[in-house]
Amino acid sequence: MAIFIKNGAKDANYISAKESRRISKENRKITNGYEKKRNRKVIPKAEYVTKMKNPNNVVEFDNLHTYFFSDVGVVKSVNGVSFDIPKGKTVGVVGESGCGKSVTSLSLMQLVQRPQGQVVEGAIRFNTGNEVVDVTKMPTAKMQKLRGNKLSMIFQEPMTSLNPVFRIGLQVDEVIALHYPQMNKEDIKKRTIEMLELVGIANSEGVYKMYPHELSGGMRQRVMIAMGLACDPELIIADEPTTALDVTIQAQILDLLRDLKVRINSSIMLITHDLGVIAEMADYVVVMYAGRIVEKGTVAEIFSNPCHPYTIGLMNSKPAVGKKVGRLYSIPGKVPNPINMPDYCYFKDRCEMCLEVCAGIYPELVQLSPTHFVSCYRHYDIFREEDKG
Ligand SMILES: Nc1ncnc2c1ncn2[C@@H]1O[C@H](COP(=O)(O)OP(=O)(O)O)[C@@H](O)[C@H]1O
Ligand code: SF4
Ligand SMILES: [Mg+2]
Repeated sequence: MAIFIKNGAKDANYISAKESRRISKENRKITNGYEKKRNRKVIPKAEYVTKMKNPNNVVEFDNLHTYFFSDVGVVKSVNGVSFDIPKGKTVGVVGESGCGKSVTSLSLMQLVQRPQGQVVEGAIRFNTGNEVVDVTKMPTAKMQKLRGNKLSMIFQEPMTSLNPVFRIGLQVDEVIALHYPQMNKEDIKKRTIEMLELVGIANSEGVYKMYPHELSGGMRQRVMIAMGLACDPELIIADEPTTALDVTIQAQILDLLRDLKVRINSSIMLITHDLGVIAEMADYVVVMYAGRIVEKGTVAEIFSNPCHPYTIGLMNSKPAVGKKVGRLYSIPGKVPNPINMPDYCYFKDRCEMCLEVCAGIYPELVQLSPTHFVSCYRHYDIFREEDKG
């Protein structure tokens, strides 16, 4: 028996069953080591309590590496990612499917599929309001208290995230009761109704008694957002919150998120493959490609002066109102095999601006302004000087 990866190509992409067994044995040794460390009965506070580099941030991703130890090799899903989420701001994370956006956010929630998925290097500092912790080193029980309390997540699929056999009210009540154990039943219900109204559900008393199947996709997503907000989180992670909804409902949910952003003063990490969503919502943008950040900056910097050929490609593949095009641009080729990443620029094989120099080592992240960074040898050709600073 043999295992083929990537179109059955030979050599580099082919491994035998024997080789696969050897890899999985080796992987088990590595992941057991991580698990043993994580499952210690007592983890001293000094290991995970830390300090922010900048007290105005709510989250600091610092050189995060999250790998999956699979039977065909190590998938470096997040491979040295650093960016900040300032207090009260929205940071948009954008990139094609499979570039590591969800794994980055799951690392922050400590929800990466273990034992095969592990944070192998780096830190994620999170300001809970009371203290600063490195969530990658937090004990699991302590992390459970943070999740849904200080950190909450709105998932892509509102259909599957709600329990079909319980009424809406009961499901939101449960979240509130969990986080406010001192509240009595009446107050909990009052707060649930308030939350449903906050997310624009007009018939809140009626919806309270309904089952998920009685609601439309947009309404279910509103309920999910209400659950996410129920405990005044410091940070809301929205992973493709509108992808599963149809276009008119998408616009309504985006309006809602924008409106809430002003009212609740939480920070938002908004993950999407859709640059249009980022343009409307975000203050800062992080562009990911194959597990790394290729460019980051303020929304104005990224949209008016994109300096990485990948960002430019993403911009060009976005339909624009009033602009006539024969056929919408699509970036040629596909993301490289995540198991055998090259040493040179990961975008090289798809890049239309590639030069000889690009065959060298992976390009460093270069600073173009206090907030604008890019990782490309040709940034000097693309960057417009008048936008400097
Ligand atoms: N549980 C897993 N086991 C192995 N590989 C995974 C797992 N989850 C994600 N990956 C890999 O990690 C990479 C990044 O995935 P993901 O973060 O989900 O991408 P996206 O940017 O679309 O959210 C992909 O190559 C994916 O195949
Ligand atoms: S470093 Fe070279 S190959 Fe990579 S994105 Fe820049 S121009 Fe393209
Ligand atoms: Mg994803």
